[in-house]
Amino acid sequence: MGTSSYDFAIEEIKRRLSIVDLISTYISLKRSGRTYTGLCPFHDDKNPSMQVNEEKGLYHCFSCGAGGDIFSFLVNYRNLTFREALEELAQKLNITLSTDKTKKEKSSNRTNLLKVNNLAISFFHKNLLKNKNSAPARDYLAGRGITSEIAKEFKLGYVGEGWDNLFSIFKEKNVPFQYGAETGLLVRKDGRDEYYDRFRHRIMFPIIDVNGDIIGFGGRVLSENDKPKYLNSPESSLYKKRSSFYGLFNSIEHIKKSGRVILVEGYMDFLSLFSGGIKNVAATLGTSFSADHSRILKRYTKNVVILYDGDESGIKAALRTGEILLQTGINPKMVILPDGTDPDRYILDNGQDSLESLIDDSMDLVEYFINKMSGEFNSGRFSRPELADHLIEFAHKIESSVEKSHYVKQCSNTFGFRESDLHSLLNTGPARSDTPGKPKAAGTVEVDSYELLILKICLKYPELITAAIADTINDYIGNPNILEIVKKNISGNYEDINSLINSISDPDSQTLISKAVFSSDDIIDKNFAEKMLKECINRLKLRKVKEKLLSKRNQIQHLKTDSDLDTEKSLLEDYRNLILEEKQLKSELR
Ligand code: UTP
Ligand code: MN
Repeated sequence: MGTSSYDFAIEEIKRRLSIVDLISTYISLKRSGRTYTGLCPFHDDKNPSMQVNEEKGLYHCFSCGAGGDIFSFLVNYRNLTFREALEELAQKLNITLSTDKTKKEKSSNRTNLLKVNNLAISFFHKNLLKNKNSAPARDYLAGRGITSEIAKEFKLGYVGEGWDNLFSIFKEKNVPFQYGAETGLLVRKDGRDEYYDRFRHRIMFPIIDVNGDIIGFGGRVLSENDKPKYLNSPESSLYKKRSSFYGLFNSIEHIKKSGRVILVEGYMDFLSLFSGGIKNVAATLGTSFSADHSRILKRYTKNVVILYDGDESGIKAALRTGEILLQTGINPKMVILPDGTDPDRYILDNGQDSLESLIDDSMDLVEYFINKMSGEFNSGRFSRPELADHLIEFAHKIESSVEKSHYVKQCSNTFGFRESDLHSLLNTGPARSDTPGKPKAAGTVEVDSYELLILKICLKYPELITAAIADTINDYIGNPNILEIVKKNISGNYEDINSLINSISDPDSQTLISKAVFSSDDIIDKNFAEKMLKECINRLKLRKVKEKLLSKRNQIQHLKTDSDLDTEKSLLEDYRNLILEEKQLKSELR
């Protein structure tokens, strides 16, 4: 995001709006001294572990690590984009965001688009139920076990062949075609002011959000020869794939009541489970499961059972989804269906009880992973060091520290590694496969404790970060956000933390700042901070050296028997130098 033309508005909003007032509208806060505390809404909080600091304009949860400013609170709590949060607050305070449409225009646009979607679904729905030409569609659904009650409850529809079924309705009712194009129901012909129906000869599934608004559609062909099997609405201002579920409006109460959600991949999987009596279901559609999806589910329950297709690609997708859930603090379970079936087929063939018992017997994802590793290792797919690498890589994906140490224990029991070895590998071993876009829990940032300490010291005593330190900091600080903040703070002319925060809009950076500010009581004075800083830098350097040592050792072990002497010599030389460096760093720590 960086600096934007809205910096002024952002600052103005922060100045005028109290973070305590804002958060209090959603959760109740109690004053204690200079801060306010409350139950953290971003995890299952039993004791109030969220603190809100009025003066600094920040909140922070000491349990799950969520934190940030008013904007990040809204983004995470209400699942808004930064932009939406900004617009909402700006409107509330009567601040104009001059370069763009005002919120008023936006919301009237939303109303118009929703009207258009409603118009379309009434047409599709009536067409399915009443039109005699729709008999094939009704037969198709009946053949798949969809009763007319379910068709009504989910407002299923049908649109026949032809390019202008819906288009004619727009014309008849004088609805601007532009709206149809914006929701994706109509497609505009290249460069011309002409439109045609996107969905033709398909069963229509409206995608309804938790407020009951129709935000998009999926359409399925009737004949297996037609392609694509499912066509989905394109992204629009109403429909965001990354955060939408199919059917959640109807299943949400069942999910809350049962305290569990069964996650499936398809429209038909959803409907068959729901009509088969398993109503605590949610489906992601035409897109893979995202961190946003996880964040939304987490509001309702942390018990997630993944129920995907029983083939290889289904299992792969389930593992991917599982990892995203783990990274956001949910320890999911997994049902592996018999090969070749999917949830829809399974419940139709075997009934509710049978599927329910599979769900009850489902395995923790972690357990599944360990079994899988064990199978692959025993069949000689990889060596023992490689096994350790795989195990550690997976451990990095587990957000919850309790689950993580449980996992380490299980690995140790299963494979005979020493727990302490695994733990030290976890801290020093193979680099985590962090990619920039890695999904995380709402407003939480996992961060190394030494790096965090450096950040705290830098925020409290920026003068301690000397030019010499600043020059080499890239070598040992891995977290790009910390690097950015530290660099900004030492080069910048920020009077106080507030102005620094205002200059940073990346949510992860903000979370980090709040985390650092709220936990800097342990930095007693400048002398102490200076000592700590030295030690942190030293330890981080030591860690880097250990990583290098590990990889050199690996290279040496894997040297081919016929490799030339020079290569071997230079590797050993590097290795010895690293050992010396390690010794030096260690002695400085004493
Ligand atoms: P599947 O190919 O497993 O379809 O895709 P399905 O759910 O079993 O569909 P039926 O039972 O044949 O009707 C799973 C999901 O992936 C998305 C849809 O959301 C589908 O439900 N998908 C699939 C698409 O978006 N487009 C496609 O062409 C296929
Ligand atoms: Mn299917």
